[in-house]
Amino acid sequence: MPELSRRLLPLLGHSGGSRDAMTCLYRCGNACDHPVPNESDNAYLGDVVNASMSRRGVMRASAAGALVLGLSGASAAAAVPASAAVPSVPLGGKAPQSGGSKAGKLSFKAIPPNTLDNFVVPNGYDSSVVIRWGDPVVPGAPEFDLGKQTAKRQSMQFGYNNDFVGVLPFEDNRALLVVNHEYTNENLMFPGFTTLDALSVEQIKVAMAAHGLSVVEIERVGRSGEWRPAEGRRLRYNKRITALETVFKLTGPVVGTAAVKTAADPKGQWVIGTLNNCAGGITPWGTVLSGEENFNQYFVGGDGVAEADKPKLARYGISTTARYPSDSRKWDRAQERFDLAKHPNEANRFGWIVEVDPFDPEAPPRKHTAMGRFKHEGANVIVAKSGHVVAYMGDDERFDYLYKFVSDKKIVKGNSPAARKHNLSILESGTLYVAQVTGDSPAAEIDGTGKLPSDGAFDGTGKWIKLVSGNRSFVPGMTAADVLTWTRQAGDAVKATKMDRPEDVQPSLRTGKIYAAMTNNTNRAVGTNPGVDEANPRSANKHGHIFEITEDKGDHTGESFTWTLPIVCGDPAAADTYFGGYDKTAVSPISCPDNVAFDSAGNLWISTDGNALGTNDGLFATPIEGSERGHLRQFLTVPRGAETCGPFITEDDRSVFVAVQHPGEISGASVEKPASTWPDGDYAKPAVVVTWRLDGRHIGS
Ligand code: FEO
Ligand code: CA
Ligand code: CA
Repeated sequence: MPELSRRLLPLLGHSGGSRDAMTCLYRCGNACDHPVPNESDNAYLGDVVNASMSRRGVMRASAAGALVLGLSGASAAAAVPASAAVPSVPLGGKAPQSGGSKAGKLSFKAIPPNTLDNFVVPNGYDSSVVIRWGDPVVPGAPEFDLGKQTAKRQSMQFGYNNDFVGVLPFEDNRALLVVNHEYTNENLMFPGFTTLDALSVEQIKVAMAAHGLSVVEIERVGRSGEWRPAEGRRLRYNKRITALETVFKLTGPVVGTAAVKTAADPKGQWVIGTLNNCAGGITPWGTVLSGEENFNQYFVGGDGVAEADKPKLARYGISTTARYPSDSRKWDRAQERFDLAKHPNEANRFGWIVEVDPFDPEAPPRKHTAMGRFKHEGANVIVAKSGHVVAYMGDDERFDYLYKFVSDKKIVKGNSPAARKHNLSILESGTLYVAQVTGDSPAAEIDGTGKLPSDGAFDGTGKWIKLVSGNRSFVPGMTAADVLTWTRQAGDAVKATKMDRPEDVQPSLRTGKIYAAMTNNTNRAVGTNPGVDEANPRSANKHGHIFEITEDKGDHTGESFTWTLPIVCGDPAAADTYFGGYDKTAVSPISCPDNVAFDSAGNLWISTDGNALGTNDGLFATPIEGSERGHLRQFLTVPRGAETCGPFITEDDRSVFVAVQHPGEISGASVEKPASTWPDGDYAKPAVVVTWRLDGRHIGS
């Protein structure tokens, strides 16, 4: 594999922890191997587990068979009549009213860290694959056949590398499963793979069709917490959205501006496809938000753009010195628009928050320019007391920023067509802010080791700095459209705080506090890179931390907040870790937090990506209020080479969904020589898995 070996990063010294070089290549375009894109000079602030695992769960999950979920990831939806074809979701800011786990009473027995090529859950729980790469989605889709794959077939089947998972119920025991497909790994998708250059154009189009999202109707299995794809009736909502041919509508202030006009779209209104959809969220009006993340790696020809445009591209990680960057997917061979030398504005049409209405298959998905353009991990919303909708968002890059969006319009309660029509427009206009945080301890006490300062906490205050409101810019020298299109540069200009890779950011609907995963940043305080500050307190941060925000006066539309780090990840036996002050001998090791979620009791669930402690990634849960705050336990692990994405706990607390992304993604692996044979015993396939409790009771409680 000459090309692969040329392109893979050396394992030693790179920042991905246990993340394999193959994942770095395909998922992020070797982001850690590139210079940090943020060169702005804005200031920065100066087996513990006695556990057992469910053999039954292991056996079941490793067997074949498409099984499958649960509801209400806290932000989520209550059932409504099918005839309404509209979901109903509890408004953010209110505690869910349904029964559920009692806060602070997680009771499952933690599973130990492991390196098994399997999906492992605690004793008393079971799991099954709901849907996997290649399974039919659109009615009439052909069964998966690895040797016969075409773009047309893939466009009707479940895509590759599932990430975000949302479950939206719409009638008793029926729900829509909406899933992101972040990226593809051609080594593991095509038998006989040699190099990306050797792929046929049709194979490139297969990869494009394996990106995007899937909407899949699912049904509960009996009365259990298990779910599977619905059968036996017309599947009205099943749909694939791809990078290949799905048409998206641009909304907001950037529509029609020069930066998004192309030869194919001279009015700057419509975009073909979505790229690198990572995390996301569910809105109270029953739609799904999806973040376009590492879109840079899909473009070539950055060396051929006008000199004046090169810094704009470089800030987003697009090479401006090579026609074919080493991490290029060379999609320009299939569609010329990916060549920036010929179509310099095409890259500006990616990096947005996408909104999909799964209950209206005919409605075009939209890209909301009012929410800014960066490497969006995802977006999660809460409804402020005023009725405005507030979205919290992270830009997943070392030394990039946290953002929030406050809508101009207020939500209209209820499920009426008029209410839904109104609410569907809420994210099209508003105010965008970026976070600037300050510690409350002396800088000298933040020494990079992770040692707590003398006041006993990494904590402080913060400001939401207004960047743009509607068509009014608050950034000198930038128009509103400039701010929204080159949001990173706007954050640089106002001296936002450089964070340790802000990934998923999600408000708890029970407390209103916001939790952001800082995955890691091994460049922190290394060489000429920015040093530590109280919000990012460890040098060469390998294991990441959780950042908790409390808006002043509980006002999500406000401009000031306090913050603290409830969990500083790593081996609990190590001095540089912190678990809310809880007894560290009773918690699970955790490394590289990525996605967060809540059950109905408000317990915090955290999934990991790139566990730098050397064992498989997994899903963890901890109470986050009261005396059990920080009592973190590992709930499941995913197979070899995989990361855990998505986590979604259903509203009834009876099912936990996760996406098993990139199983078997280990350098040297191929279809013929798989590093994982999960889930079917032959070669690795990304899949969505549901876990439930065998006695039918609430998960975790
Ligand atoms: Fe796609 Fe930031 O992980
Ligand atoms: Ca402090
Ligand atoms: Ca992620």
